[in-house]
Amino acid sequence: MLLRSLLFVPGNRANMLEKALGLAPGAENRNVSDVPDAFIPDMEDSVPEAEKATAREMVARYLSRLAETGAVVIPRVNSLDSGLIEDDLKAIVGPHIQGLSVGKIGTAADIARVSELLDRLEDATGIERGTVRIVPWMETALAIVNAFDIASSSRVSAVAFGAEDFTNDMEIERTESDAEIAYPRAAVAIAARAAGVLALDTPFFRFRDIDGLRKDALTARGLGFRGKCAIHPAQVAPINEAFSPTEGELQNARRVVEAFEEAERSGSASTSLDGMVIDVPVVRRARSLLDTAARIEGRR
Ligand code: COA
Ligand code: MG
Repeated sequence: MLLRSLLFVPGNRANMLEKALGLAPGAENRNVSDVPDAFIPDMEDSVPEAEKATAREMVARYLSRLAETGAVVIPRVNSLDSGLIEDDLKAIVGPHIQGLSVGKIGTAADIARVSELLDRLEDATGIERGTVRIVPWMETALAIVNAFDIASSSRVSAVAFGAEDFTNDMEIERTESDAEIAYPRAAVAIAARAAGVLALDTPFFRFRDIDGLRKDALTARGLGFRGKCAIHPAQVAPINEAFSPTEGELQNARRVVEAFEEAERSGSASTSLDGMVIDVPVVRRARSLLDTAARIEGRR
């Protein structure tokens, strides 16, 4: 699945949900690179307590239209300890959602609890069991120590790292240097890879600082993240770009594959290009890049 950019939309804000619909390809002749790969209509932390019921109704009402844009729809429900999750799920489980995002997951047992709730609602709505995938947030110390168990739980298809809640849970400062998140962020990327699911990076909160966002997204990509959450529409295009191979990378990848295939034809599993060794892992990386590019092309 292609999940480069995932745009959070506060579920109690009708104007923002409308704005999200306007980001669809074709609307206002938008360039497809401005379109998020996924929407996360949110019922959790972007919604004040007093508006939880409103947000639940409003998100439920917008799901079909959000899905019609062609983006993946992954609503975020309130966490397991909120007392709200069962009602949230009842309102949204249906044919329009591919995934479900849940904050503050700490253990594989938490995923099992969410999964059981989904089993029942899928049965009740006539959807095949297991259709709704889970995208848990790893944003507590407990989640980081249990990262692989969570990521490898059934139904999980991607995991997201949440830096603000993580530093909050640790009772430490959130700084511009990102030094305090270096370890947990990398731990999430590695656990996701080990479990064979996608790693999604924490949102960048200084939403007017697009250069800062670009740098941050490239750092995340360098750690193995495949996408990043956005909190403002202006963040979508730079995130899509950061998680897409560049023309230069693609040209190089094509040359690597050609050189390797040429070497294979003459009976060798390694060769060189521009003074660099081209062997099996190098060509694997090149092919995987070309694969990603083909999926992005498919999205167009
Ligand atoms: N989704 C959809 N539309 C959004 C949006 C979002 N996440 N963020 C902003 N917009 C809309 C605004 O409503 C505004 O629409 P308009 O042109 O019709 O008036 C337009 O985009 C431009 O917004 P702007 O004025 O630049 O920002 P703002 O001050 O309205 O909003 C935030 C700034 C940070 C309050 C807002 O982006 C937001 O609430 N983001 C989500 C935060 C969130 O989800 N947090 C939880 C995840 S960790
Ligand atoms: Mg959070």
